[in-house]
Amino acid sequence: MPKAKSAKTAVAPQKLPKILAFVNQKGGSGKSTGAVHAVDWFTQKGYTTVLVDADGQQSSSGWLHELQLPCKVIGDPEALFDELPKLTEYYDVVVVDGPGNASEVTKAILVRSNLVLIPCRDSMIDLASTGKIVQFVRQAREIRGGWPVAALYLNAVKGNTVLLREAKEALQGGILPLLSTVLPDRQCIKDAPGQASTVFRMKGTAPKSAANAYTKLLTEALKLFEAEL
Ligand SMILES: Nc1ncnc2c1ncn2[C@@H]1O[C@H](COP(=O)(O)OP(=O)(O)OP(=O)(O)O)[C@@H](O)[C@H]1O
Ligand SMILES: [Mg+2]
Repeated sequence: MPKAKSAKTAVAPQKLPKILAFVNQKGGSGKSTGAVHAVDWFTQKGYTTVLVDADGQQSSSGWLHELQLPCKVIGDPEALFDELPKLTEYYDVVVVDGPGNASEVTKAILVRSNLVLIPCRDSMIDLASTGKIVQFVRQAREIRGGWPVAALYLNAVKGNTVLLREAKEALQGGILPLLSTVLPDRQCIKDAPGQASTVFRMKGTAPKSAANAYTKLLTEALKLFEAEL
């Protein structure tokens, strides 16, 4: 049974995105890594949080299990449509880890989410493929009168390169905002699932700096969401 909702915390629960999804049909963009870190971040802030693993590969649910955090595997679009709102009755935040394909599952997630974050790598192949997910978001917004709030962010960036500048230029000016926070490529982020951990729990300077980047990203995303309320 899920825990009862909490009544504490920094951001008033009514200003939180009840359903926060990480989606991108491009495989390996950083959805599961982002979703698991978001669950740990919200949990450590005192919000009751659950991860919904909507990806057939079920990578994030195994990781969540090791972190001893609540998780549900729901890979069926109709079940997602029905179950996501029900979970918000028990948890402050429901974080959804989307699949790496443009499927009915992704569409169901977009129809139910309040805030959608789209991780994108700074390679030209990844940038070129964002059109599909942006189109999905646009269509969901047409149906839902402007919802969900959505933003892209650059993930696993190797440094302040020409590619990063070009990636920013390519993503800015589209219909979805690009978050100014850039998540760096860090070995500790890659190592986190193997160590049954997250960068919020790991010791050392590198995890601390990666944790700060995730905090900055999520804080920026929450501000964007609050501005739309
Ligand atoms: N910021 C980062 N720095 C270093 N490695 C990263 C970072 N973000 C993700 N990775 C690594 O990149 C790989 C893909 O990440 P992840 O599994 O989160 O992507 P995904 O979008 O969920 O993929 P899929 O579509 O297959 O589900 C993983 O090995 C992960 O550890
Ligand atoms: Mg994944």
